[in-house]
Amino acid sequence: MKKVYVLNGPNLNLLGTREPAVYGSKTLDDVKKLCQLAAKANGFSLDFRQSNHEGDLIDALHEAGRLQAQGKLAGVVLNAGAYTHTSVALHDAIKGTGVTLIELHISNVHARESFRHHSYISPAAKAVMAGFGVQGYALAIAGLAQLGDKK
Ligand code: DQA
Repeated sequence: MKKVYVLNGPNLNLLGTREPAVYGSKTLDDVKKLCQLAAKANGFSLDFRQSNHEGDLIDALHEAGRLQAQGKLAGVVLNAGAYTHTSVALHDAIKGTGVTLIELHISNVHARESFRHHSYISPAAKAVMAGFGVQGYALAIAGLAQLGDKK
């Protein structure tokens, strides 16, 4: 059974209480449960993480890249939070590992402040998903399964 990594960046540990009008009322633990169900439904095992530190996310991407090269990982769903809009290092980690990655945002970043319109992740991502609320995580995991079918 292949793994999927679901990686969450800064401030996503605050889900549930953080700007509920934008991000909804589900907690990160609720999101983990939703991802567990989606992973199971698509025949994957799940590795779900959150970090407020850019280097931790980079290390996780390197790890994911190694697992994918060994045929043990289908890909990564990454909600990089605000690092989306700032991090050349995350861009380089995705490119450098060649890992299959879906960029995920709970909110529709393009309907928000202009500083959220640019992403350093998108040019390195296989696909981008934004604005489906936390349900987007399940859709992204199903999307990874679809990509796998095409290989
Ligand atoms: C976010 C959107 C980002 O702009 C923001 O900095 C986040 C969350 C989202 O899930 O909608 O932290 O990635």
